[in-house]
Amino acid sequence: MKIISHRGASAYAPENTLKAFALAVEMGSHEFEFDVHQTRDGILVVHHDFDLKRTAGKDVRIADLTWAELKKYNVAAHFKRDRAFQHVPRLEEVIDVIGPVSRWLNFEVKNDGNVYPGIEEKLLAFLRSQPGLFEKTIVSSFDHGTLRRFRELSPELKLAYLGHNLSTVLLLPALKKARAVGAVNFHLALRIAFKFNISKIKKAGFRACVYTVNEKKDALRMKEIGVDGIFTNHPDILGKWTLKG
Ligand code: G3P
Ligand code: CA
Repeated sequence: MKIISHRGASAYAPENTLKAFALAVEMGSHEFEFDVHQTRDGILVVHHDFDLKRTAGKDVRIADLTWAELKKYNVAAHFKRDRAFQHVPRLEEVIDVIGPVSRWLNFEVKNDGNVYPGIEEKLLAFLRSQPGLFEKTIVSSFDHGTLRRFRELSPELKLAYLGHNLSTVLLLPALKKARAVGAVNFHLALRIAFKFNISKIKKAGFRACVYTVNEKKDALRMKEIGVDGIFTNHPDILGKWTLKG
């Protein structure tokens, strides 16, 4: 089962910052997940929310800021344990930190309602700009139109279906949608990660990864029911709970 650093080692350092990714590397991570947005001047950056309200305490949207403006905000401001300045990293800064040790990279593209037109082309160009990067990449998005556009642009790109507000009742239609875009993975929330659902997903031919798993009992249950990967804010569980394999 893959132990995937979720927004870096985000339990210990401000999520989606270079500090969080460097710490995840230090903790021995080889698999990473992070969230991709685009600035007003077309720079790909890594941050969870569409705005900086929660992380920097500022009511500004990434889509409205240039990179030069965005990089001035402290997105560690929300993180009580360590508020020392951290900027929203550019995508290539993150890959510089985690790329050399990474074996599997999940770029989650936040593009609800196509708020970042052209982000698909831009990310594909980036993935092709570094040797070996495309091959170890899987792209996911809660926005189905985004997944469809990725598939139209690239038949080879690995895609993961990400179920928004998914329930057991909605699982079958979601599996159909995942198949329609040629997804290889199906990523689902812990609250619906039961044996029945996982076996439906796997029987349909997908690998199942579950977010966000931060407790030992849940991690062990995921392994038991055949989950292929867990997204965790505590990537150090890798050594502690010996979940690998
Ligand atoms: O990609 C898995 C998970 O990160 C999706 O939810 O809200 O944490 O981006 P969220
Ligand atoms: Ca995410």
